[in-house]
Amino acid sequence: MQVVAFSSYASPDRTRSAATARAPEPADAPARPFLKWVGGKGKLLDQILVHAPRGRLRYGEAFTGGGAVYFALRGEGRLASALLTDLSGDVVNAHTTVRDRPRELVAALQDHERAYLDADDAGRADYFYRVRAMRPDLLALSPVERAARMIFLNRTCFNGLWRENSRGVFNSPHGRYAQPHIANEARILTASRALQGTAIARADFRRWPELVRAHELDFVYLDPPYHPVSVTSSFNAYAGGAFAAAAQRELAEVCAELDRLGVRWMLSNSDCALVRELYARWNIHAVRAPRAVNSKGDSRGKVAEVLVTNRRSGLAW
Ligand SMILES: C[S@@+](CC[C@H](N)C(=O)[O-])C[C@H]1O[C@@H](n2cnc3c(N)ncnc32)[C@H](O)[C@@H]1O
Repeated sequence: MQVVAFSSYASPDRTRSAATARAPEPADAPARPFLKWVGGKGKLLDQILVHAPRGRLRYGEAFTGGGAVYFALRGEGRLASALLTDLSGDVVNAHTTVRDRPRELVAALQDHERAYLDADDAGRADYFYRVRAMRPDLLALSPVERAARMIFLNRTCFNGLWRENSRGVFNSPHGRYAQPHIANEARILTASRALQGTAIARADFRRWPELVRAHELDFVYLDPPYHPVSVTSSFNAYAGGAFAAAAQRELAEVCAELDRLGVRWMLSNSDCALVRELYARWNIHAVRAPRAVNSKGDSRGKVAEVLVTNRRSGLAW
């Protein structure tokens, strides 16, 4: 089925075109996330890369989201092989489609972009909610249609905040961006090149001890939904609802198991009592991260985060 083009909302006095107002990305720009992701690691990259092991890595990322750390390591030529996983079927399908069918995806996004940007304000909101209602769990969307739907919603929803309810259904409201860049062709083609040869799979983090063995990985980065520093402070419902304290405890067990398997790992989380307790036996480094999302959207300061590693003598780093 076709996801696109509800052109009846076109407004006669709105002449802006999708492509005109923006400076294009340079063709040789380094690969970067094509999803705008809450908790995306773009602003923390320098601090994260300093703590990653030297040498060419057989790399795994257990909570991929936008994949900022993957793209940065790939750009620095530090990856010999890689596996990316996430629990969200939309995240996994988007990365797989960017890797395998980037040009069809760009064409589908251009259809969305035209239909959306040519509409008036009411028409844009209506188009957004009609695309949002095309749920991949209810409709037989092709992988390209599903990825285009996700990227379109990601670019046009409130705060770029991809939020799913407990049944895994995306439920963020419409945002109000004057000129969202929906079909970023250069970004998608560059990301596609950077994803060639990388395995991408849908998986819960609890499967990672099995996955590192199957894929013979030697370094894993884990960036789970953060544990809230206070009851109201944090957003942590990306895939399938909230990530509770019990899940944080299971994740710490998974990290201990990876260590027993001789695998190096690095984990990001909020700097809070539970995280400090769970990882007390490992190396905890405090980092400061600029953050733009909390539950009320009204306190946008720096958030204290930690980076934890299992670096120790006997484990090459
Ligand atoms: C903090 S985000 C990762 C951000 C990412 N590092 C980036 O730079 O964009 C957390 C991710 O964990 C995923 N997730 C949530 N629960 C999960 C689970 N049980 N197993 C695996 N992934 C999960 C979410 O879908 C989300 O993409």
